[in-house]
Amino acid sequence: MGARVLVRGAGIVGLAVADALVSAGHDVTVVDRAPGSGASYAAAGMLSPSSEVWYGEEALLDLGLRSLALWPAFAAGLGVPLHTRGTLLVGHDRGDLQQVERQVELLAGRGRAVDLLTSHEVRRCEPTLGRVSGGAVLPDDQAVDPRAVVSALRERLGSRVVPRVLDGPADVEVVATGSRLPAPWAHLVRGVRGEILRVRTDDPPAHVVRGWVRGDPAYVVPRTPGGGGPVEVVVGATSEEHDGPPVATVGGVARLLEAARTLLPGLDRAELVEVTARDRPATADHLPIVGPAPVDDNTRPVVLAAGHFRHGVLLAPLTAALVVAHLASGAVDPALDPRRAALRGPAPTPDPTPDPTDEETHR
Ligand code: GLY
Repeated sequence: MGARVLVRGAGIVGLAVADALVSAGHDVTVVDRAPGSGASYAAAGMLSPSSEVWYGEEALLDLGLRSLALWPAFAAGLGVPLHTRGTLLVGHDRGDLQQVERQVELLAGRGRAVDLLTSHEVRRCEPTLGRVSGGAVLPDDQAVDPRAVVSALRERLGSRVVPRVLDGPADVEVVATGSRLPAPWAHLVRGVRGEILRVRTDDPPAHVVRGWVRGDPAYVVPRTPGGGGPVEVVVGATSEEHDGPPVATVGGVARLLEAARTLLPGLDRAELVEVTARDRPATADHLPIVGPAPVDDNTRPVVLAAGHFRHGVLLAPLTAALVVAHLASGAVDPALDPRRAALRGPAPTPDPTPDPTDEETHR
């Protein structure tokens, strides 16, 4: 018989976990006062393990590829289309091209097939591009509209998604509250602000474009065209360590607009429809935390499913499968274990015993 599970947080991760738990026979309630309004609301929806990985984060590539493999069935089950034309990595000037070359080296070192393209080849592949020095194509990458996924999951979960907890205690609690974890786990995740734009255009790129423009990274994600008319294109995203609520800044928006117009000059005439800022939930090693909470209050087991940083949308189906497996067998992926050493802060320094001969201690 299934357990009574309370999932805290109705972003894409919490909802995907809840949906998978329901399918596994559990009795699930999801609690969130504003479902889908956090990082999932801002996210562009790149399902792009290769273009989002960087040196020192190679474990993310393997996780991302595992989750990417789950996306076609996950999206089909929800009736949400996937964008499957792949990602183009492009560099605007020769310095920017070095970023692309580094990324290609990193991927080649991990056994991924990716070829560098000349400026001419990359523009033949994507004629909407402006001046670029070269690029590379990542044909296996996909993209999805996270708002459509959240809405389909909410519809499927129906009355299981509630604004506050009404019933008695559950057997297990899953905490999937993104960048805002409750005590005593709040220190495991910090907010990294991302500003992101949504525009509408008749001239969208066919590919997801991830580029560097005079050193600034940017990406442009076209939605799958519907029944004619302008297509939504997402332009992202800034990344900033900060305290306080995530607000959109004049400088952040200006940099995104400049990068997008440089990469894709046709966007100059696009309608700017939305500016959004949200916190990405980042952990100390930029890997998510999925597994038993390091400390619990001994009233019931708590499982954390948070800290997905730049990869919440991509990793949602894998996270859901890992939480279901954990409840079934206790299995935990050591790389994602919330109790892993990489997340522990420095050992507290013991209070020095005052030395009576030290005058500083008496001031
Ligand atoms: N995954 C894209 C971003 O975090 O900006």
